[in-house]
Amino acid sequence: MNIVCIGSGYVGSVTGAAFAVLGHHTTVLDIDQTKVDLMNAGRSPIYEPGLDHLIENYIGKTLFATTDYSTISQADVVFIGVGTPSKADGTADLRYIRLAAQGIGQHLNPDKFTVIINKSTVPVGTADLVASIIEESSGLAADTHFAMASNPEFLREGYALEDVFFPDRIVIGTENPRSKQVLKELYFNLLNRVQYEEKSRDFQFAFNPKAPLPTYYETDIKSAEMIKYASNAFLAVKISYINEIARLCETLGANVTDVAAGMGMDSRIGSKFLQVSSGWSGSCFPKDTAELLATSQKYSCELTVVQAAVESNQQMHDYVVDKIKRKLKTLNGKHIGILGLTFKPNTDDARKTQASVIIKELIDAGARIKAHDPHGMEMFQQLNAALDVQYMPNALDVTNNVDAVVLLTHWDEYLLIDWSQVKTNMRSPYVLDTRNVLKPAYMQELGFDYEGLGINSFRNQTRFEGISA
Ligand code: UDX
Repeated sequence: MNIVCIGSGYVGSVTGAAFAVLGHHTTVLDIDQTKVDLMNAGRSPIYEPGLDHLIENYIGKTLFATTDYSTISQADVVFIGVGTPSKADGTADLRYIRLAAQGIGQHLNPDKFTVIINKSTVPVGTADLVASIIEESSGLAADTHFAMASNPEFLREGYALEDVFFPDRIVIGTENPRSKQVLKELYFNLLNRVQYEEKSRDFQFAFNPKAPLPTYYETDIKSAEMIKYASNAFLAVKISYINEIARLCETLGANVTDVAAGMGMDSRIGSKFLQVSSGWSGSCFPKDTAELLATSQKYSCELTVVQAAVESNQQMHDYVVDKIKRKLKTLNGKHIGILGLTFKPNTDDARKTQASVIIKELIDAGARIKAHDPHGMEMFQQLNAALDVQYMPNALDVTNNVDAVVLLTHWDEYLLIDWSQVKTNMRSPYVLDTRNVLKPAYMQELGFDYEGLGINSFRNQTRFEGISA
């Protein structure tokens, strides 16, 4: 099949590379010449483990990159994978979607039937908007010359290749019988893992050939659009919930890691997304919860649970700052080393990270900050130019003469640093591990005053009064 993916950002480049690996003639189309040049030189336009390797191996064979919109005229399937950033009121900014729709309309081939698929996360009703723009700019009729479909992606940054080749489900929203057929063909190789054994050397991650095959789920377009928002908001709620339980565990002297493990054994709950943190963040959850809330308010269908999850998430950021303050008595004049600026490991994405909120609050309270991140430092620095932070090229340098080290992002590198050297470097040995990934016994053995979130709190609890007789 001939596929065009519009946008060489996260969605477009990963989707494009994946379909090229699966044997389709795939072109990634972007107006940004620099990104297109990068791809043509065999390099990934985004930081995503394993993607460089795929692009290098498939570019010029089944994978192509161009700025030329006329490539649309050859396509059987066009994916729209452009950004939908938040506007000030929380709603999604659809300007890039509109531009892509116009570009498609101007080059649509009247002698072909083309399926146009929204893969970006877009508000319910966007497929209708795209169809009307294409009809207007092409003069061609929907359902005769082209048909719309929604096929949301559920890729996690840092694990996108695993998620794209081994998804739990493929969600297809379309009411058009011809596009249903085209999409089934398009996904045939992925659904049946055709030649996966041979291609496994290109994946660069371990995979279980016996893992269950994905579910292929067809529904109407609006429901498919909603599934993406509802899923992301649900995951955000789940994390906010376990973070609240962590706060209560800490107060009562229970251990949230054990609580989450025990909860996760119930298949109705599931063990994923019960990992404690200083709060969720990143380029998807904040944007998608904001859009869902804005839309629900517009139609007076208030989503109070999602609203509460957003508020609870801010409380979690504040809780971390308070915890450091309680330990150090004051933040004023204290030196704090921050490990991790990205919203999670294996990404260079430093947009809307919990680190920016927490660091700002620490600085506002008078603390001096040194920070490190293996891949996100440059983006974080650009986006947070107003924050007075000393960026260190080396993780160990962050720990020199500080009163506290706060681990915000659980990069493997931080598990492997020489913690005994950290102990020697620090002015006072307080370590707050907001992901509960370091070994408490080992840290205590080295002489640290080590704390996680919602764990090892027996000696710290001050408020639990026991059960009255
Ligand atoms: C998310 C969805 O998972 C993905 O399906 C969708 O396509 C895009 O949005 P992503 O934003 O890449 O993916 O990150 P994800 O791994 O979901 O993590 C989001 C945030 O939640 C991060 O800040 C992460 O650290 C945090 N998190 C995640 C937790 O705090 N605890 C957890 O148990 C899981």
